[in-house]
Amino acid sequence: MSRDQPDKTPQHIAVIMDGNGRWAQKRGLGRSAGHQAGVKATRQLVEGCARREIKVLTVFAFSSENWKRPEQEVSFLMELFRGTLRGEVDKLHENNIRVRFIGDLSGFRSGLQKDMLAADRKTSGNTGMRLNIAVNYGGRWELTQAMARIAAQIEGGQLQAADVNDELVARHTSIGDDPEPDLFIRTGGEQRLSNYLLWHLAYTELFFTDTLWPDFGVDELDRAIGFFNGRERRFGQTGEQIRDLENNA
Ligand code: IPE
Ligand code: IPE
Ligand code: MG
Repeated sequence: MSRDQPDKTPQHIAVIMDGNGRWAQKRGLGRSAGHQAGVKATRQLVEGCARREIKVLTVFAFSSENWKRPEQEVSFLMELFRGTLRGEVDKLHENNIRVRFIGDLSGFRSGLQKDMLAADRKTSGNTGMRLNIAVNYGGRWELTQAMARIAAQIEGGQLQAADVNDELVARHTSIGDDPEPDLFIRTGGEQRLSNYLLWHLAYTELFFTDTLWPDFGVDELDRAIGFFNGRERRFGQTGEQIRDLENNA
């Protein structure tokens, strides 16, 4: 088995791209330089995942809590998103990638919102990898939204409380039509979820690395996929049951 052809490719990879600021600080640079270098690593990740025929890639670009950062950093990030989006959308489209933004887009300036929707619209007919970009996103926000929408339907009489189940809740989340993430990657050394995809990560295999995001490349992506291949996913069953199922498949 070559490193480029893992035996079990995860269908959906979810990534927390963390460590841009520390990467820059280590080099005596401002945090902005770290974010800029982070864009390069993100481009490599998107290309690497598309080449490996990953079906869905979901990346965390800006959390609902990141507004609390110094104003200068927040406005730099907004400019960087806008510039990057404008510069990359054609290439993503040529590569048959479907782009979608998840999160509370109403928090952004109208120009940026328009660019996000335009990228979504332009690529919506593509059939290749789905790229979800989480911006002003928080797992609790998403679940609260889902609950409010379901409650409104119950109030309106279209739905009964007894109809509320896993599948219905999932459908009301922003990536409910995608398979759940198989593999989660967080760079930057922290081992926490930081309010990311709280619903969807229930049975995801978790890969943490100390590598700072701008240093993350395809070799480490393959290492993460290799880690995933080494896991036995049991979903509550025993190892024996799983092996029997695999042998009879
Ligand atoms: C992740 O890197 C990028 C964003 C949150 C936008 P950080 O900026 O969190 O980098 P560190 O964690 O401070 O090093
Ligand atoms: C999570 O990273 C959000 C993104 C990478 C966009 P943070 O750096 O904001 O997370 P905390 O604050 O260390 O938990
Ligand atoms: Mg961080």
